[in-house]
Amino acid sequence: MGDYRDVVEEVYAEAAEVPQAALCCTQSPVWELPGLVVPQAMLDRNYGCGSTVNPRDLSRAERVLYVGVGAGLEVLQLAYFLRREGGVVAVDTNPKMLAVAAELLEEAARVNDWFEPEMVTLQEGDALDLPLDDASVDVVGQNCLFNIFTPEHLTQALRETRRVLRPRGRFVLSDPVATRPMPEHLAGDARLRALCLSGALPLDDYLQKIVDAGFGTLEVRARRPYRVLDKARYRLDADLLLESVEVVAFADPIPDDGPCIFTGKTAIYVGTEDAFDDGKGHVLLRDLPMGVCDKTAEALSSLGREDLTITGSTWHYAGDGCC
Ligand SMILES: C[S@@+](CC[C@H](N)C(=O)[O-])C[C@H]1O[C@@H](n2cnc3c(N)ncnc32)[C@H](O)[C@@H]1O
Repeated sequence: MGDYRDVVEEVYAEAAEVPQAALCCTQSPVWELPGLVVPQAMLDRNYGCGSTVNPRDLSRAERVLYVGVGAGLEVLQLAYFLRREGGVVAVDTNPKMLAVAAELLEEAARVNDWFEPEMVTLQEGDALDLPLDDASVDVVGQNCLFNIFTPEHLTQALRETRRVLRPRGRFVLSDPVATRPMPEHLAGDARLRALCLSGALPLDDYLQKIVDAGFGTLEVRARRPYRVLDKARYRLDADLLLESVEVVAFADPIPDDGPCIFTGKTAIYVGTEDAFDDGKGHVLLRDLPMGVCDKTAEALSSLGREDLTITGSTWHYAGDGCC
């Protein structure tokens, strides 16, 4: 494969001009927010495979970076929550995509009273070499871009993401993952990679790369079917299911005993005491479900207690708490 990034530029220059209905789309509904009108041309160029916009991540955010702008749909949604000049910085390598995003954000300003184009700073910039200072943003979002990168470039993009985040900042992503390793003849196909079909890693490998870049806590918020690479068309022994995931990773230190990865497992204590304390910071009040990371779930399971139930992963972790 030459430099696959040349093909990526070609694919997205075309996708900027002519909407590609099937590119990246998933069965996730486009958000409807009170008072938000999204220009149709922006919806037609939704090249995300999920959502990276979550009010929970934005309540205290002052400055957000969005990498791989596309036509600006998620940038507009982010601005809806931030509503301040320069609150969203949005970078893309593709001048045509940036031009379309700028035009559509102008259109968005005409149909949304609350929105001013100055709320978004659009600039040419590469995920592999972000044009931002260290520790300068609270949240980084990327949707359906990092899966395109080769493993080496993915490592670089994740390092860059970690670098620009403030401590405890959040990296929110939506990307395809593969249910088994991608065969070389597909991983090496630059066009399939650019179309978000053959760069996907298995979920565990992707999460490990995020941890390796220095993120101590990860939450898997969604996991849904994305595509099937069928054996006839893609020259495979068996069909290969791709899924899309939504993950948030926190820029906090990695604990000595390993990262905390929440996949939706829950611990419930039903014993005779008011609570069960594992001595490692987890106090389970009797009868009340508590979300636990996979590491803790495994440690609690290994106790072999009949008064503790540990459920499987829902892949829809949305934080924890009761009342
Ligand atoms: C699949 S589209 C996703 C667009 C947008 N995130 C969305 O959800 O609609 C990928 C976008 O990333 C841009 N892109 C490609 N390589 C990039 C890079 N190295 N750095 C920043 N943006 C890049 C493309 O031009 C394109 O706009």
